Amino acid sequence: MSKQIQQEVVDSRRTFAIISHPDAGKTTLTEKLLLLGGMIRSAGTVKGKKSGKYATSDWMEIEKQRGISVTSSVMQFSYRDHHINILDTPGHEDFSEDTYRTLTAVDSAVMVIDGTKGIEAQTLKLFKVCRMRGIPILTFINKLDREGKDPLELLEEIEEVLGIESYPVTWPIGMGKRFQGTYDRFQKKVEVYQGNKESYYVDFDGENITSDVTEHVNELYLPGLVDELALLEEAGNEFSVEKVKQGLLTPVFFGSAIANFGVQSFFDAFLQLTSPPQSRESSVGTIKPTDGSFSGFVFKIQANMNPAHRDRIAFIRVCSGKFERGMNVTLSRTGRKMKLGQSHQFLAASRETVDEAYPGDIIGLYDSGNYQIGDTIVGDGTSAFNFDALPKFPPELFVKVRAKNAMKHKHFEKGITQLVQEGAVQLYRTPYFGDNILGAVGELQFQVFEYRMKAEYGVDIEFVRMKHDIARWVDRKQIKDNMTDSRVMLVEDRDEHAVLLFENDFVLRLFQDKYPDVTLSTPL
Ligand code: G4P
Repeated sequence: MSKQIQQEVVDSRRTFAIISHPDAGKTTLTEKLLLLGGMIRSAGTVKGKKSGKYATSDWMEIEKQRGISVTSSVMQFSYRDHHINILDTPGHEDFSEDTYRTLTAVDSAVMVIDGTKGIEAQTLKLFKVCRMRGIPILTFINKLDREGKDPLELLEEIEEVLGIESYPVTWPIGMGKRFQGTYDRFQKKVEVYQGNKESYYVDFDGENITSDVTEHVNELYLPGLVDELALLEEAGNEFSVEKVKQGLLTPVFFGSAIANFGVQSFFDAFLQLTSPPQSRESSVGTIKPTDGSFSGFVFKIQANMNPAHRDRIAFIRVCSGKFERGMNVTLSRTGRKMKLGQSHQFLAASRETVDEAYPGDIIGLYDSGNYQIGDTIVGDGTSAFNFDALPKFPPELFVKVRAKNAMKHKHFEKGITQLVQEGAVQLYRTPYFGDNILGAVGELQFQVFEYRMKAEYGVDIEFVRMKHDIARWVDRKQIKDNMTDSRVMLVEDRDEHAVLLFENDFVLRLFQDKYPDVTLSTPL
């Protein structure tokens, strides 16, 4: 049995994702966090959409063409004795299952909301995955330097739309041109906004307006602030760290990422309020991060990160024990033993070889086709086990797909098998004719699939868009021939489980009314 991992090593780690609607300011906030960690010296290094310089995390050609980040990248840095792993999630509307799966590898999430817009549809979808996992979610309401929604309204929206309690840790004083700063309810201090100059703090008990405060904050705003703080105390939720850790209450912070205002205080609070890597359930019971034997799981496979090498990288979340380069491991699904020679850690596209990693860390392993999404790997000397399966995400878009040139059938089969294994899209087949149907949660997944089939397997493909947009898993034995038609289609997923595809919500409800005994299940 290998040596236990010290609790301090685990406690110093934070692995989280930043979720947001496109343009809410995720990239800007990430950049400011990297600045805090001393990883970059100037802003603008991560992404410059409009300047034509693309984020270093935009690996694939298609991403460059569209100026968006399709693949989730990983950024690692140290800050105040903590080892931080930020998993980037694509923020484009056409996001994909990768985005969802990334959230299975993190211990907490930061939700960035544009204060001028409030909660948008995609944030809600991602948020649901966080809720399902019961991980802490901290909210950063951005763009306070602009005229935005009323802060109380924003809190109400968070509570109503997301169904979670909120607790504003900081509270804005004015906004837009009148933005004075924020009041920190824990520290009892005002963080004074100074535009592009660095902010500073002034003590204020939140009740008694003295000259010490009015010297720094425009007097006109203070009575309103005192009233609002009193209202929050009286009518607002009570703060509970326990609730935060269970993902039942989101601490809310206000700031302006672009002005680097409120970012550091937010991140300091984040480190205190979130949990380090936790235990995970597996086929042999609970695996603690401090367990001495190495274990981890694959949450993402990325092909062609470097087109010159046609390589694939499997992203592993370390769950227990210590990873050491060159160590021997077993891939639980196949029982295959492997030596982990090439391993990487990441700062956007720059890869450094990593020699060791601990629970919570993300490593990239060179993959010649051994790994599948959800695979567990365990260190030598440990009997193989599997972490609980990653959730499947119900696709909402479906296309029939075939090779344009029938002679390319073999390449087509190979490509589709590998890309499905990688989790690029989901594959379904019709029972009798074996038609290939692809399912995705975002349109972009199809485009990436088409591009890669051509670029990597030399196959031109044809899509026929299907009208169906809802998938429900069923017990095959319950389905009779007369229950299906063109609007309710029976297919099989790649594990040969029966799935019904419905043309729309109305058709689904009709089906439920007609066949109340058929159990329809959805993975999320
Ligand atoms: P995203 O990753 O969530 O998509 O958002 P991103 O950080 O790229 O920010 C989207 C736009 O919002 C950018 O402007 C960015 O400069 C701006 N922004 C981010 N944080 C703030 C903030 O605190 N206040 C204000 N006023 N704006 C903010 P852009 O014009 O779309 O792009 P760019 O030309 O600046 O790159």
